[in-house]
Amino acid sequence: MSLYLPLNPERYHPDPREPVDRWFQTASASNVRTTMEIVADLVGPACSAVVDPFAGGGSSATAARLMDLPFFGIEIDPVLACVSLAKSRATVGHARILQRLPPIRDLESLLSVLALLPTCASADEVAVASCLAVVLALRASRGTPLGYQEITGDLACHRRPAATGRLVCADATVPASWRDLPVPQEDAVLYTSPQFGRRSPLLGAPPRLTATARGVLASVGGDHGRSTTPEDSGFAGTTVAMLRQAAAVMRRATVVIEHEPDDDGHNATEETLERTAAALPGRVHNARFIFCGQFTWRGPLSLIVFDLR
Ligand SMILES: C[S@@+](CC[C@H](N)C(=O)[O-])C[C@H]1O[C@@H](n2cnc3c(N)ncnc32)[C@H](O)[C@@H]1O
Repeated sequence: MSLYLPLNPERYHPDPREPVDRWFQTASASNVRTTMEIVADLVGPACSAVVDPFAGGGSSATAARLMDLPFFGIEIDPVLACVSLAKSRATVGHARILQRLPPIRDLESLLSVLALLPTCASADEVAVASCLAVVLALRASRGTPLGYQEITGDLACHRRPAATGRLVCADATVPASWRDLPVPQEDAVLYTSPQFGRRSPLLGAPPRLTATARGVLASVGGDHGRSTTPEDSGFAGTTVAMLRQAAAVMRRATVVIEHEPDDDGHNATEETLERTAAALPGRVHNARFIFCGQFTWRGPLSLIVFDLR
């Protein structure tokens, strides 16, 4: 079955006014409110968690937070993994801890703050505050510093994050990355936007910031040590490889895959669903496409939706 639901592309682009999410939005980020609407429509109130194995800069982490749901994410880029973790777990308390330390204006000041943090915060607080510190350094490296007033103001209009949830910096297509991700076996939504091809925009953070972010995640147990880029197997190949791993640890879930064509306009929606059904025999039910209309110059955005059973 397929539905055609043309939507204003603006509804899929990230909103630069969205509290918390606006701390850092990747070029390919999704719109938080639209993600929430899709999850509410497709899963309803029974949803137990949001799982995003290509978490990027955390639009689904922010959506999970707003829906008061635990967030489980995997992201291969260490800086983006820190951004996602900060968006999903930061509180006003973490911002206040950082505010008492020297300002983060560059990599050197980030390193000083990271060294000081364990002396003035608990281990749990250090993990989240360190990731928030990486976000501040990332914004400073872009010449658009993020102020504490904006952070605390944004957090004041959010509820406290759900107590459970986890993020790992790893390759979502290999089993080890899912081993330490205690995703609920029932009734979660796997909502993700996979890399749509070789030329999908990359973050391009300064290499020393990336190395520092990796160090932060390693020290808090959120890094699984893979520093090489996995082989590019295209949208369908990467998505199916990830879904094999997800299906090994999740018994029942609603799966929503955002698809936008690669730079050459190649549309892999049907191929992805066919290959998924072949890779997971008997587990793909109620599959459908939701076509959302022209999105970028590359072509239309569509959602591949099915129940994993
Ligand atoms: C289209 S972006 C996701 C955008 C995201 N929704 C956001 O809010 O920024 C895809 C993400 O997948 C990550 N990625 C690519 N291959 C991966 C892999 N094998 N395992 C985990 N993450 C991967 C990329 O680093 C990128 O951040």
